[in-house]
Amino acid sequence: MNGLIGFLGGLIIFQSLLFSQVEKPEDSTSSQNLVIFKGDTMKILVAYYSRTGNTRKASQIIANTLNADVDEIVDKKSRKGILGFLRAGYDATRGNTTEITYTKDPENYDIVIIGSPVWNGRVTPAVRTYLIRNKEKMKKAAFFITCAGRPGKCLKQMRELYGGAVIAEKVILSKNIEEGAKSFAEELKKLTSSH
Ligand SMILES: Cc1cc2nc3c(=O)[nH]c(=O)nc-3n(C[C@H](O)[C@H](O)[C@H](O)COP(=O)(O)O)c2cc1C
Repeated sequence: MNGLIGFLGGLIIFQSLLFSQVEKPEDSTSSQNLVIFKGDTMKILVAYYSRTGNTRKASQIIANTLNADVDEIVDKKSRKGILGFLRAGYDATRGNTTEITYTKDPENYDIVIIGSPVWNGRVTPAVRTYLIRNKEKMKKAAFFITCAGRPGKCLKQMRELYGGAVIAEKVILSKNIEEGAKSFAEELKKLTSSH
């Protein structure tokens, strides 16, 4: 019992230390000069995981701007409450996968845009699982993450898990979801439209 309390206490201190510093005060975007098939029939999917709604909100803005389909990746493991929060950080740090559900097949799309919150500087278990399961099916990808200011190695992990062509990436700060999502959507629109 004492061991468990000590472990949980340690985790709380670890997570609060992570949040106490701001590493990147501004949103940042990067895109690669990849050849993208451009045409009216290009099909785009926005697939995302969200625990508290920020990544969902960004996904909806991006999907609306690009006329894309949107699909929520649901983590079957409870992430609610303080224990859910602690387990979330622990699972992300350990690189654990989880049980997920989603409804759309990424194979049916020309580009899959994936959104994840940052947990302890890492990708969420739900998005990790989605990428491992679907990397072969995704022709091209774009990634965005939402976070409080410390993106850590989240995007790097997403790139490595996918291993394919990433057309654009963005860090969106949770205090700036609407503006960040709109600017990423506009950038993606330029990359994917013929005019
Ligand atoms: C367990 C956990 C760990 C987090 N770790 C980080 C972090 O390392 N860096 C950071 O900037 N934000 C961190 N956050 C904040 C979230 O990334 C941020 O609030 C995000 O926008 C939440 O997205 P959502 O509302 O879609 O779940 C963390 C949040 C949780 C729940």
